[in-house]
Amino acid sequence: MSNNITEYKKILVVGGAGYIGSACVKVLFERGYKNIIVFDNLDKGRVELVDSKAVFVQGDLRHKEDLNQLFSNHDFDCVIHFAALKAVGESEKFPQKYFENNVCGTANLLAVMDEYDVKQIIFSSTACVYAEKDSGVYVETDPLQAPNVYGSTKIICENMIRDYNRTKNLNYTIFRYFNVAGDVGLNYIDPDAQNIFPIISEVIVGKRDKLEIFGNDYKTCDGTCVRDYIHLKDLVEAHVLAVESSGSYEFNLGTEKGTTVQELVDSFISFNGSFLFDVVSRREGDLGVSLADSSLALEKLNWRAECSLDEMIKDTLSVYFNKNNE
Ligand SMILES: NC(=O)c1ccc[n+]([C@@H]2O[C@H](COP(=O)([O-])OP(=O)(O)OC[C@H]3O[C@@H](n4cnc5c(N)ncnc54)[C@H](O)[C@@H]3O)[C@@H](O)[C@H]2O)c1
Repeated sequence: MSNNITEYKKILVVGGAGYIGSACVKVLFERGYKNIIVFDNLDKGRVELVDSKAVFVQGDLRHKEDLNQLFSNHDFDCVIHFAALKAVGESEKFPQKYFENNVCGTANLLAVMDEYDVKQIIFSSTACVYAEKDSGVYVETDPLQAPNVYGSTKIICENMIRDYNRTKNLNYTIFRYFNVAGDVGLNYIDPDAQNIFPIISEVIVGKRDKLEIFGNDYKTCDGTCVRDYIHLKDLVEAHVLAVESSGSYEFNLGTEKGTTVQELVDSFISFNGSFLFDVVSRREGDLGVSLADSSLALEKLNWRAECSLDEMIKDTLSVYFNKNNE
C-alpha cells in the first residue's frame, strides 16, 4: 500500500454497480481503501458486481430524499460519480430522459455535497463533448460542442461542477474518457452492448449475426473511423490517482494511439479467427478521427495508459468465452 493513501478516506461511488464503477470499487479495495459506499439505482448496474466489502445503498440521484438519507448517514471525503445513461442513440430519441437522469441527477448530487460540505468530486465525462476538429486529436482546452444529447448532458454537468468550484471551492477531477474496453476480472457482460468490443465478441460467440462497420469513406488510411481505445484497467488507475490528488482539472484519458475499425477487426481475426462483418453507410454524428492528447494527465497525475490493444481484445474475449461455457 502506498504511503500516500488515506486508507480511512470515506469514498462514495455513485453508479458503482455499473461497468466502470464496479471496476473502480474493486481496485480501490485492492489499493487499501476501506470505507467505500456504493450508491446505485440498479437500472443498469448489478449488485453482484459490487465488491462485498463495500456498503451498498440502492437509491436514485433523481430522488433528493435518497441523497439526503445517504449523506446524513455518512461523512464522505470524496465522491466518484459514474452514474449516467450513456446510449447516444437513445439520448437523441428521448432527450428529456437524459436531461432528467444525467443533468438533474448531477445537480441534486452537487447540491447535497454542498449542503454536507463534501469538497471533492471525480466525474466521468466523455470525448463526445468536443466540437469536431480536423486533426481529430483533442486537448482539454479545445472548444466543447456535443454532437448529441448524451454529450450535451455531460457538458452541462461539467459546467455545473466548474461553477461549484468557482463559487463553493469544490475540488474536481473531470475525466473525459475515450473508447473504453476490457475487463478487470469482474467478467462484466453488457446486456445492451453498444460498443464495438462487446459487439464483436457477441458475433464471435454466436450471440449476434454480424458486425456492421459504419462507413469506409472517411479520410483515414483504410476509410474506416479511427478511435483511441483504452483499457478499463488504465482508466480505473487514473481514478485511484485522482482520489489523492489536489487541484481541479479536466483530463483526457486515452492511449494517444489511433486504431481504425478495420484494424481492430483484423486484430480480433488474427487473435481468434474470422467472423462476419459488413460495411454499411456512415452513422450520423460519428467523427472520422477521435484521439486523446493525454499529456496533461501525465504531467499532473503521473498517469499514462499502459495496456495494449491485444490485452483489451484478450480480456474482453475471455469474458465472453467464459460466459458462453457456463
Ligand atoms: N463505458 C464507456 O465507454 C464510457 C465512455 C465515456 C464515458 N462514460 C461514462 O462513464 C460513466 C460510467 O459508464 P459505464 O460504462 O460504467 O455505464 P453503466 O451503465 O455500466 O454504469 C452506470 C451506473 O449508474 C447507475 N445509474 C444511472 N443513473 C442513475 C441514477 N439516476 N441514480 C443512481 N444510479 C444511477 C446505473 O444503474 C449503472 O450501474 C457514465 O457516466 C458514462 O457516461 C462511459
